[in-house]
Amino acid sequence: MIVMDQGMSSGLVVEGVSLGYGRTPIIRDLTLPALRPGTLTALIGPNGAGKSTLLRGLAGLGDLTGSVRLDGEDLLRLPRSERARRLGFMPQSLPPPISLSVLESVVGSLRAVPARDTGARAGTARGSAEASPPTAGDPLRRAYATLAEIGIADLANRELSALSGGQRQLAGLAQAVARRPGVLMLDEPTSALDLRHQTVVMREVARLTREHGMVTIVVMHDIALAARHADQVAVLRGGALQAFGTPREAITARLLAEVYDIEARVETCSRGSLQIIVDHAL
Ligand SMILES: Nc1ncnc2c1ncn2[C@@H]1O[C@H](COP(=O)(O)OP(=O)(O)OP(=O)(O)O)[C@@H](O)[C@H]1O
Ligand SMILES: [Mg+2]
Repeated sequence: MIVMDQGMSSGLVVEGVSLGYGRTPIIRDLTLPALRPGTLTALIGPNGAGKSTLLRGLAGLGDLTGSVRLDGEDLLRLPRSERARRLGFMPQSLPPPISLSVLESVVGSLRAVPARDTGARAGTARGSAEASPPTAGDPLRRAYATLAEIGIADLANRELSALSGGQRQLAGLAQAVARRPGVLMLDEPTSALDLRHQTVVMREVARLTREHGMVTIVVMHDIALAARHADQVAVLRGGALQAFGTPREAITARLLAEVYDIEARVETCSRGSLQIIVDHAL
């Protein structure tokens, strides 16, 4: 019988991770169950819980200690450029309103760090950065295909500086998603979006995650939306993991009371999806 060495197992393994600001610790000795390729994890928790701090730390922004391994490879020991190739990160802040078209901004992100060849049949550009450098046309086609996937092809030639907040958020998402990184981390990608775009974005992120075998972590506050699209939910409070599991396992009225100080009901709607009804702030 072959026993898989835990260290070589596929996916993202976060163990004993700590980080903070100056001398103030925020995340203390955090360990997550292994996050498998092709799965979407929703990272939820109250304001100030440390969600953005954790994502930024994993993305290499901050003084993170502990162990972070992707497919057995220690990400913290990789040179910055190599780590950047494996990780895609969309921060909570909107992309700046610069005089660049949406399409150019996505091409720029692909040129800065070439797309990963995931072997999936999506999009048009499939060249691996190592084996065959992308031709000049590839980033452009890949960028345009990504805009089409998230439903903003019509914004391709608009300048970022002339977009609405939600449109700029969608452009930022396209910049992160286009590369199909091994680990895709999105900090509140739907916070500025209308109801339709929230659903489209989560559906497409979940689909791209499965199709390209990405380990995707999405920070969000809409728990019902998270429950609908995430394979698992990680709940953070005060820099510590409070719960982890499938949405139905992790999200309970008791957890919501403990973590958010609210009295809430977790119910199943007539079509079977999980709904949260908040009755009181405690
Ligand atoms: N640059 C910083 N310097 C010092 N402290 C910071 C900094 N950024 C965040 N913090 C503090 O770290 C803690 C965690 O903040 P973080 O931004 O990670 O929370 P969050 O879970 O993302 O919250 P939100 O849901 O409001 O985005 C908070 O107490 C915050 O005040
Ligand atoms: Mg945040």
